Amino acid sequence: MAYRIVVLAAGKGTRMRSSLPKVLHSLGGKPLLAHVLDAALALEPRGIVVVVGHEARQVRDALSPVVPERVTWVEQARQLGTADAVRVALPAVEEDDTVLVVFGDTPLVTPHTCRALLEAAADDRLALLTLELDDPSGYGRILRDADDRIVGIVEQKDADPAQQRIREINSGVMAIGGAHLQALLPRIDNDNAQGEYYLTDLVKLAVADGLEVVARAPVEPCEVDGVNDRVQLATLERHLQRRLAVELMRSGTSLRDPARVDIRGDLVAGEDCEIDVDCVFLGDCRLGRGVSIGPGCVIVDSVLGAGTVVHAHSIIERAELGEACVIGPFARLRPGTRLDNEVKVGNFVETKQVEVGAGSKINHLSYIGDASLGRDVNVGAGTITCNYDGANKHRTTVGDAVFIGSNTALVAPIDIGTNATIGAGSTLSGDVSPDTLALTRASRRDLTDWTRPSRDKRDD
Ligand code: UD1
Ligand code: CA
Repeated sequence: MAYRIVVLAAGKGTRMRSSLPKVLHSLGGKPLLAHVLDAALALEPRGIVVVVGHEARQVRDALSPVVPERVTWVEQARQLGTADAVRVALPAVEEDDTVLVVFGDTPLVTPHTCRALLEAAADDRLALLTLELDDPSGYGRILRDADDRIVGIVEQKDADPAQQRIREINSGVMAIGGAHLQALLPRIDNDNAQGEYYLTDLVKLAVADGLEVVARAPVEPCEVDGVNDRVQLATLERHLQRRLAVELMRSGTSLRDPARVDIRGDLVAGEDCEIDVDCVFLGDCRLGRGVSIGPGCVIVDSVLGAGTVVHAHSIIERAELGEACVIGPFARLRPGTRLDNEVKVGNFVETKQVEVGAGSKINHLSYIGDASLGRDVNVGAGTITCNYDGANKHRTTVGDAVFIGSNTALVAPIDIGTNATIGAGSTLSGDVSPDTLALTRASRRDLTDWTRPSRDKRDD
């Protein structure tokens, strides 16, 4: 079957109280609309039509870089109602399509549920996604006849008291054949409490034409939750995080507390990874098998090789780490950090634009930037690369098996040859030859005829 997905996203979202259009507000690090488009794309449709209106250009510009060409954007000049919005999309709909209508502000609807609805719409049926709620207020209510057949939807504002007591609600998601949509939609009028063209009126028109109307339920109730204000946005964020946490656990990662991890983007983890509490993953992150992340870490757009251990409170951003590295606690790996296997970066170490060879160690209190370190290098505590002269950045290169004593300042540009040793406390500029001991250290003086100052005697 050929699917066509129509996404309604023209509304203003007044209750967000925001200059940002509602569908661009972020959920799990992505705009609301991006979630809906992801679900739509997963259905492998013939095409996706997004109806934009309020701040149309801003919405398009924000999403265009991340959506493929299969998405067509159409503009609804005035927001006259959901049926009017679908009417704007109608020229892009073909007769033999099965059309799914979803809302841009209902981000947690799943491809699974959408597919069930599309399949139910085959054989000349109109399929609605409905749900029984304890508190149905605000939603359109599903009207059924004595034989339990769906005969209409009444909006909250048009419902009489008896109808308001109906607990089965319309989620807004529906599926129908393209030819039926083309025939029925122009017959919808705006004779109702809000003076709007209601897409929900499709139901009574379908029934009048002898079309069967069927309901399907979502797998999770949150699939039908729309975002109208920031409170609902925060509630859905928790639902999404729960869902992502469950997916991670099912794919073999242990979470110390599934309620205390935040994934704002895409996290892919191999089996037997462990993530402690209060970690945040942003953008695209990949963890190899058996990676362990301590509490309170922030990891952004990074790749961590198998068996790597990150201790508490480390921050890793746009970095690539090999296998079996040990990082932190309290390490900060900034963009461009590339570590080979079995590298150790310890507490209060900052790295930036560095390559570090296998087995090297930078264990304590260092800054290593714009540098390339060979294999089995030992960088003593408090060593820094002086990479910036106030105007330009310069590079440091360190050969294999170099030993750098503690509290060394390497004034770049500088090149330290293989197997060289740097004495502790040195400030070095200029290159060091291989196998050499280099040090700059003031000579020691021991004074024996010296007494320590004592405190002045005072009367008071
Ligand atoms: C709609 C349904 C209601 C359902 C509820 C579920 C109608 C008439 N009512 O009501 O039965 O229970 O959703 O959340 O369909 N939009 C446009 N152009 C417009 C109007 C709306 O693109 O002219 C878009 C909005 O951006 C939004 C979606 O359509 O994404 C729903 O519109 P909204 O005004 O929120 O509908 P509800 O009153 O919530
Ligand atoms: Ca709504």
